[in-house]
Amino acid sequence: MSSSGRHDTAISQCESQSTRPLSSVPQAPSKLCFIVEQKYLKDSMPVAVADVLTSWGHTVDMLQPHAVLADVSGLDPVVGDGYDAYVLKTVSSGPGLSILEAAGAAGLVTVNDYRAIRLARDKAVAASRARAFGLPFPKTYFAAASRLLRHLAATEYPLVVKPNNGSGCERIFRIDRASQLEKLDLDQDGFLLVQPYLPNPGYDMKLYNTGEDVFAVVRESPLHPGSGTVERLVPLTAELRALALQVGRAFGLDIYGVDVIETPSGWMVLDVNDFPSFGKVPQAAERVAQSVVRIAHRAAARIASVDVSTAIHGLEATA
Ligand SMILES: Nc1ncnc2c1ncn2[C@@H]1O[C@H](COP(=O)(O)OP(=O)(O)O)[C@@H](O)[C@H]1O
Ligand SMILES: [Mg+2]
Repeated sequence: MSSSGRHDTAISQCESQSTRPLSSVPQAPSKLCFIVEQKYLKDSMPVAVADVLTSWGHTVDMLQPHAVLADVSGLDPVVGDGYDAYVLKTVSSGPGLSILEAAGAAGLVTVNDYRAIRLARDKAVAASRARAFGLPFPKTYFAAASRLLRHLAATEYPLVVKPNNGSGCERIFRIDRASQLEKLDLDQDGFLLVQPYLPNPGYDMKLYNTGEDVFAVVRESPLHPGSGTVERLVPLTAELRALALQVGRAFGLDIYGVDVIETPSGWMVLDVNDFPSFGKVPQAAERVAQSVVRIAHRAAARIASVDVSTAIHGLEATA
């Protein structure tokens, strides 16, 4: 299926936090496969990125994982299927990740790296990764069912309970005492992630890395409705930029978002998202498009410089 060819990309005139000008010179033409989840067909991301790439002369095919029978047996890094990279904006439990991982498992280039997406998608895995890399991240429990929360001591409250594979600030609960647990239907959300509630001013700082530049956007916390925070781009401090880049290195992500809050003991990372929607980031589609091409070229050059067995990610260790 070919690109939708939509041309409704909105370019905001917001003040840019970037120190690097957005280059308008497209690189050598690439052939890209965008895996577009049903949920995002009408959203600006990632279709706007595909539109920009098409306008720059690249070829973009759109693969709708919910609508096609995908041949995952024909993915081959040597013979190739003609794509320089596969690109996915993930959705919780969506079918796209299986196809992207199938491409990555065969040694094809994926944006983001398919293994990095796996580290970020499962909140328990992300918590472990963040803590292991020394990132400021709250103490975190994984619970297969809400009845297990009864094992927590009273001193652990107040708690935040959220779906382990959640996103979009859906079904986030603050629980002040154990007696509230039985009044909530927490088990409709699958497995749970549990953390101490960290005191904060009521807004999230959303750090967005387009792959070239980091931006900061403030947004009201779902646990502080009515705080009056207006979502907006704010100047990025050196501290937050360094923290965002540290997260990127820890997870191996190129294009990502990090939710942080300011607590009495400093900034804390709460959430890592591969390929966020980049709300309020100026020229987000163009910036991400530029990164996609750069990453595809970088990865292709790396694969071309090694032999076939090591080109297939993950086989190095057993070869
Ligand atoms: N431990 C916590 N302490 C305080 N606030 C939290 C905590 N965990 C989550 N929140 C609030 O809930 C929001 C959503 O949580 P997050 O982990 O980002 O889930 P989602 O994947 O749904 O975005 C955060 O941005 C923050 O405002
Ligand atoms: Mg979040």
